[in-house]
Amino acid sequence: MQATSAAPSWLRRAARERLFFVNSHPTLDELIAEGNAAPVDGWDFSWFDGRATEQRPPWGYHRLIAERMRTAGSVLDVQTGGAEVYAGALGSLEHPPAVVAATESWPPNLAIARAKLEPFGGTVVEAADDAPFPFGDGTFELVTSRHPTFHAWTEIARVLAPRGTFIGQLIGERTNSAVFEYFLGPQPINPVPQRDRLTDAVREAGLELVTLQEASTKVEFFDVAALIVFLRKVIWTVPDFTVERYRDRIADAHELITQNGSFVSHSKRVLLEARKPA
Ligand SMILES: C[S@@+](CC[C@H](N)C(=O)[O-])C[C@H]1O[C@@H](n2cnc3c(N)ncnc32)[C@H](O)[C@@H]1O
Repeated sequence: MQATSAAPSWLRRAARERLFFVNSHPTLDELIAEGNAAPVDGWDFSWFDGRATEQRPPWGYHRLIAERMRTAGSVLDVQTGGAEVYAGALGSLEHPPAVVAATESWPPNLAIARAKLEPFGGTVVEAADDAPFPFGDGTFELVTSRHPTFHAWTEIARVLAPRGTFIGQLIGERTNSAVFEYFLGPQPINPVPQRDRLTDAVREAGLELVTLQEASTKVEFFDVAALIVFLRKVIWTVPDFTVERYRDRIADAHELITQNGSFVSHSKRVLLEARKPA
């Protein structure tokens, strides 16, 4: 999702596609049909251009991992998705690491990730998110991970070489709570802050915490088709989401967007860097 101007979504879309005779006021049914038809495999969000935006956290994850890769001979990306972000960072380097590897659990992403990492001689292994990594102890100087759905701290610590670094951008707790509570109602809040739980888990795995930063970034959906595609793609936001089940709330969200111009939410992000002792 990218930054857009304040113009209405239909106008931005029409301008982008150079359409001058467009349906400027799609109906709820048309938007629902569009939202249900969009492909949701891979982890590329370009479909959302002009229809939803998400601010980026201030630390610049892409730049940070590229910097760390510059001095690493071997790198593993955990839960790489379609490897879009990982390959983007590798591609920005004059000399990518000699050993490039990734894990991925969701079969539709495997072929996408393998094609993306092929120019770097990268391997993508299929591994369940909570299963042991199929790599020996101390294999990697750098481990990265963006938005993993499971935190495999023990395995990350095991495959890191002594003095190796983990750097990851994690999903913060209650990310997009405005979206999931709109559909599900108020949800329980963990009394122990995520920051404390992460700190404990990293240390228990035998790593030294170097950095832990948190950010809240604005997300806007400019039509319900975008909201539907988001919920179909980011499946853990509203786990039982189907358009049929939530048709009334989607109709309400359509009204809200028509009146206010957008549906506003906030994603929560955590930057965490940790080091394996010598
Ligand atoms: C949130 S994705 C992030 C991927 C990548 N690291 C990135 O930041 O672009 C993390 C994991 O979610 C899983 N995933 C994504 N969509 C899924 C789906 N529809 N069903 C099951 N797992 C999915 C994939 O296994 C993927 O590795």
